[in-house]
Amino acid sequence: MQYAQLKHLPNVTMSDIYTGNGVSELINLTMSALLDTGDEILIPSPDYPLWTACATLAGGKPVHYICDEQSDWYPDIEDMRKKINDRTKAIVIINPNNPTGALYPKEVLQQIVDLAREHQLIIFSDEIYDRLVMDGKEHVSIASLAPDLFCVTFSGLSKSHMIAGFRIGWMILSGNKNIARDYIEGIKMLSNMRLCSNVPAQSIVQTALGGHQSVNDYIVPGGRIYEQREYVYKALTDIPGISAVKPQAAFYMFPKIDTKKFNIVNDEKFALDLLRDKKILIVQGSGFNWHQPDHFRVVYLPRIEVLKEAVGKIGEFLQYYRQ
Ligand SMILES: Cc1ncc(COP(=O)(O)O)c(C=O)c1O
Repeated sequence: MQYAQLKHLPNVTMSDIYTGNGVSELINLTMSALLDTGDEILIPSPDYPLWTACATLAGGKPVHYICDEQSDWYPDIEDMRKKINDRTKAIVIINPNNPTGALYPKEVLQQIVDLAREHQLIIFSDEIYDRLVMDGKEHVSIASLAPDLFCVTFSGLSKSHMIAGFRIGWMILSGNKNIARDYIEGIKMLSNMRLCSNVPAQSIVQTALGGHQSVNDYIVPGGRIYEQREYVYKALTDIPGISAVKPQAAFYMFPKIDTKKFNIVNDEKFALDLLRDKKILIVQGSGFNWHQPDHFRVVYLPRIEVLKEAVGKIGEFLQYYRQ
């Protein structure tokens, strides 16, 4: 509740906050409660693929809007607009983003709010990386800009506190809850059906979010995440045929690969060939519902020595690889 206040989420009471066995469980729960067969929901491409999976599992139709590499991977608002129709129920944003590492500025968030308002759409905002923002930037919760809309904001401790195995996340319903009364009943029902989320993990949230935030030491110059980003961005983009937008948040980068140069037509095959030849595991862009074979995701959490070895091997591999 205090965290919701710090993020300026409007119209939130204690009963609007749900804990979950990770954000994952809550994504599944909110999609199941929302989507009837054929209902559409706007989801980013590339996405964190659980969103697409859970929307599909609920019988909904995920409709992917483009995040534009030319614009620092921000959502393409015109593409979003084109894909809205009378079956569209909601817009999902992932901010900061997995897999691109993008952080959306307030102006972009405002445009999404305006669109959601025009079409009366629910906004789902996955903000699990909101405490992992670099370069002195500030994360803005989209719900803080939309007191008249119904928003669901997700966060958790898996990333900021690096305790993914504890399985603790939460979601906060905010804004205009009157227009979502039936939906909230559905959420309550599904939430009650699983009895409760992991209680020992719930008990650590207040302590984890209060006081000194050790993650803040990681994301400034001299800190692990910051320095690893600096290293991996430079080392990878120094390889001929690889370019990238420098990530500003989270711990991912989504580099582009020159498919003509390497004759790549199948990115899954590219990932498997790299794994077999060099024992380096990346995830190909299509794993994030990206529909061209020209990207892959890097997780830059390993220490610099490990990243150095891995990037070196990717460089060697690309000297001879032609698909
Ligand atoms: C964008 C995003 N949302 C949610 C999750 C899931 O987090 P949790 O461990 O809280 O289930 C992840 C994990 O990678 C993620 O990247």
